[in-house]
Amino acid sequence: MPNNIPYNPNMYRSNINNLLNQYLSNIAVEITKLYNFHWNVKDPMFTILHKETENYYTKLQEMYDETAERIKMLNGYPITLLEEYAKISTIKSIESKNYNSEIIIRTIVNDFELLLSLSQEIGNMATQVNDMGTIDLVTNHISFLEKQLWMLKSQLNK
Ligand SMILES: [Fe+2]
Repeated sequence: MPNNIPYNPNMYRSNINNLLNQYLSNIAVEITKLYNFHWNVKDPMFTILHKETENYYTKLQEMYDETAERIKMLNGYPITLLEEYAKISTIKSIESKNYNSEIIIRTIVNDFELLLSLSQEIGNMATQVNDMGTIDLVTNHISFLEKQLWMLKSQLNK
């Protein structure tokens, strides 16, 4: 057996899967939150935000599936219990009521920044062991989140 593996593969998989499951939980909660804004936006910008939130939950559904499938490839189990999502996610769901565009944009910016910092954390952990599959997963997510954060912040006055 070659003795040059610089890390314990089982320990790595357990650590990265914990982090990936935390990311997965955050994405799951954010998807419902984006539907909430899609349905409850009350603003002259209704049409734009109704469409924009649809684009976002569609993209996040892809990210949700990709993240879960990566956990499977790393011999783990993606969380499927809704109560676990609520417990683990740092993004919190919010009640169904009217929201104006300013609140919606600021909330999405805040939530996407949380997703971005988690995906960067995953990328850093994966880089240490050259886990290229995981690096590729989060690199794509990071590009998407950074671009949307720029565009969302450009819609705000300050
Ligand atoms: Fe819809």
